[in-house]
Amino acid sequence: MNIPVEKNKIYEMTIDALGSNGEGIGRIDGFTVFVEGALPGEKIRVLIVKVKKNYGYGKLMETLEVSPERREPVCPVAKQCGGCQLQHLSYEAELAYKTKEVQDDLERIAGIKGVEVKPALGMADPWRYRNKAQFPVGQGKNDCAIGFYAKRSHRIVDTDRCFLQNECNDEIIGIVRQFLNEFQIPLYDEEKHKGLVRHILTRIGRNSGEIMVCIVVNGKKLPNSDRLVERLKKVEGVVSIVLNVNKEKTNVILGKKVITLWGKDTITDSIDGIEFEISPLSFYQVNPVQTEVLYGKAVELSDLKGDETVLDLYCGIGTISLFFARKAKRVFGVEIVPEAIADAKKNAERNGITNAEFAVGAAEEVIPRLYEEEGITADIVVVDPPRKGCDEKLLETILQISPEKIVYVSCNPATWARDLVVLKEGGYEVKEVQPVDQFPHSVHVEVVSLLQKRDM
Ligand SMILES: C[S@@+](CC[C@H](N)C(=O)[O-])C[C@H]1O[C@@H](n2cnc3c(N)ncnc32)[C@H](O)[C@@H]1O
Repeated sequence: MNIPVEKNKIYEMTIDALGSNGEGIGRIDGFTVFVEGALPGEKIRVLIVKVKKNYGYGKLMETLEVSPERREPVCPVAKQCGGCQLQHLSYEAELAYKTKEVQDDLERIAGIKGVEVKPALGMADPWRYRNKAQFPVGQGKNDCAIGFYAKRSHRIVDTDRCFLQNECNDEIIGIVRQFLNEFQIPLYDEEKHKGLVRHILTRIGRNSGEIMVCIVVNGKKLPNSDRLVERLKKVEGVVSIVLNVNKEKTNVILGKKVITLWGKDTITDSIDGIEFEISPLSFYQVNPVQTEVLYGKAVELSDLKGDETVLDLYCGIGTISLFFARKAKRVFGVEIVPEAIADAKKNAERNGITNAEFAVGAAEEVIPRLYEEEGITADIVVVDPPRKGCDEKLLETILQISPEKIVYVSCNPATWARDLVVLKEGGYEVKEVQPVDQFPHSVHVEVVSLLQKRDM
């Protein structure tokens, strides 16, 4: 094909759609060009910066016709920071985009037509919603830099607040920043794998108000940590201050060892009246308001009558398990992180729930083994895997177990759609698909779906 654009030249074009990273997509004489920051319906002037065989990338130079959905970002560093990709879009249009993304994946990847994805359920107030913050720490121009990674890089954008995080972080980050500068604590350099303080992680229980502050260090100790503790424990809600030891040269934020510097080892929170204890190493959904919506929808889709056995695979600290246990006969949860399973067991006990059991291990190993050795059965299987989706061996075993219903919860519609292909070929029909916006202003979308065994 004759490529109709040249690098370093300026063209006019119209944007037709948003891509999976929130970038505008349009065509110049039939040739696809991706333009960050441009919105559908906009007419723009674009500088071509990269040309590939079948597509190119452009830099937005001027917006000639502005989309009515364009908004001024609330955050002053929204353009640089890699956290939010859609602050320049109205929230209504963002929800419509997310619904369409799920519909496209369902049709293109799973090859399922004729199932209409329900409109994404959004938040009434889509700001300051996160209960977990992970701020990278490094050397700034003069003092320490604490903030977020810039788009597609690990350069730290130094900032003192994030509009997705709880307000308590503004004060906590201020205190840690002051401490690191005052005591000249060595700051981590990712490239050289040198320096001490790597990340600051906070978690807040939305309903309990309890806050955990975790300092991630490339070492065993934090010098003058008693001074930091003195200051942090005065922040309203702080009940736990911990050190996490991560000496690996890795992108993974947390290491395996946690040392409590002050207060409790865990924090508690509740969702819809169920209390949860959460360790620093355990997964816990980051948007508590929408988690209640998500779990409520998963229970609703299951239409429990009270006599069901439910498998909750990739169960974390047993949150979905305990939601289901209130309405089912028995729930069995499986999760790979031992600390999370320890939390799950305590959580069942704490809430007086006696019909939920848990096992540690990879779901793709535990479930096939229990199926072969004990002939494990289930009426409903719930899966909520990490972004990479379900292991194939697990999907095969689920098909052998042959539950009446499968509830698939996913934070990555692309791998969800890939797994649906296997379940569809194995005799399941997609009955309902409901996106839930767990991550406003980012391109990420969560989906909960119901699959029913087809009558053979
Ligand atoms: C998206 S989270 C869902 C957790 C839980 N359902 C919730 O809503 O809080 C995925 C969970 O799967 C766990 N996990 C990852 N790989 C796993 C595997 N192979 N087998 C079992 N659990 C796994 C992670 O540790 C994490 O807790």
